[in-house]
Amino acid sequence: MLEIVHSRATSRGGLFVKLSGILLAVLLAWFYHAVQPPQPKICGSPNGPPVTSPRIKLRDGRHLAYLESGVPKEKANYKVIFIHGFDSCRYDIFPVSQELIAELGIYLLSFDRAGYGESDPDPKKMVNSTAIDIEELADQLGLGSKFHIMGCSMGGEIAWTCLKYIPHRLAGSAIVAPVSNYWWSGFSPRVSKEAFKQQILRDLWAVRVAHHAPWLVYWWNSQNFFPSSSVIAHSSSIFSAPDLKVLGRFEDRAHYVAQIRQQGEYESLHRDMIVGFGSWEFDPMDLKNPFPNNEGSIHLWHGTEDFIVPVSLSRYISQKLPWVKYHELPDAGHLFPLADGMSDAIVRKLVLGDRGV
Ligand SMILES: *[C@@H]1O[C@H](CO)[C@@H](O)[C@H](O)[C@H]1NC(C)=O
Repeated sequence: MLEIVHSRATSRGGLFVKLSGILLAVLLAWFYHAVQPPQPKICGSPNGPPVTSPRIKLRDGRHLAYLESGVPKEKANYKVIFIHGFDSCRYDIFPVSQELIAELGIYLLSFDRAGYGESDPDPKKMVNSTAIDIEELADQLGLGSKFHIMGCSMGGEIAWTCLKYIPHRLAGSAIVAPVSNYWWSGFSPRVSKEAFKQQILRDLWAVRVAHHAPWLVYWWNSQNFFPSSSVIAHSSSIFSAPDLKVLGRFEDRAHYVAQIRQQGEYESLHRDMIVGFGSWEFDPMDLKNPFPNNEGSIHLWHGTEDFIVPVSLSRYISQKLPWVKYHELPDAGHLFPLADGMSDAIVRKLVLGDRGV
């Protein structure tokens, strides 16, 4: 009797083990599928979005879409390349006034960063990739040996990489409300920790996932169990009072906003986060002055009311790099270049330096 009971129990136990094995396999298969980003929808491919802008073909075969404005480059005194931020595209260039463009003779070039808008995704995207793309774009369009760059938000973070990888091509740089990577080794642990904690909880996690588990970024930002990045979700809780004043201008993007993520959120947004918050092979705080003889200048701009990117990190960087001209603006948020006259002020300083007061 006792033996019979015992053998029934073990066969039930065996069944249980088998069932949980199957369940685990099903769960793993589901999870594996859920974390895989979908194939990108490449512009100009049979089922992909159309190509509407001029593009160049890069050495590795990718296309880069661009937008020229201002005076023709042959007549320009200054050539400025704009690097757009996160979840943006070539149309998000600063609204520089026609008066300033004419007065100083400025040619403006902006482009879709890889994976955004109509530029092909870059599956090998690394920290130095955009700087290398910029150099190739400038050469194919015949901008000459030197040009200015101006980058905002995530584009500001990328401007640091231009100082590192293509300093010999730069005539000057404006780095505006730049994203900082909390894991740059130059930050004191206290400063980066305090800035990190200023983010709202959901962004804190989105950034942590991007740094520690890049393979999980697609799933994290496409699932509905936890709130994902508030910037991706367009949550209004990230804007400060000065930002709310110019939000109407920021939202005036209806004619192109659908282009931004059209090739897939993984190719545009998620790769941007993975590189921006990943492990960098250099630290901007170790950079050397690219203009030791004052041939040009590097300007760093940040608003104290920026709730998207903490001002404390730019302030810290400016203390470590005394050759950077730091402009900290009170009553300015993350969107301050859209406020009246600000874009002109940034560009004037960029190309004229101290003469541009
Ligand atoms: C870009 O960075 C990667 C990784 O650090 C390196 O292997 C590669 O050679 C760099 N490319 C260029 C053109 O400098």
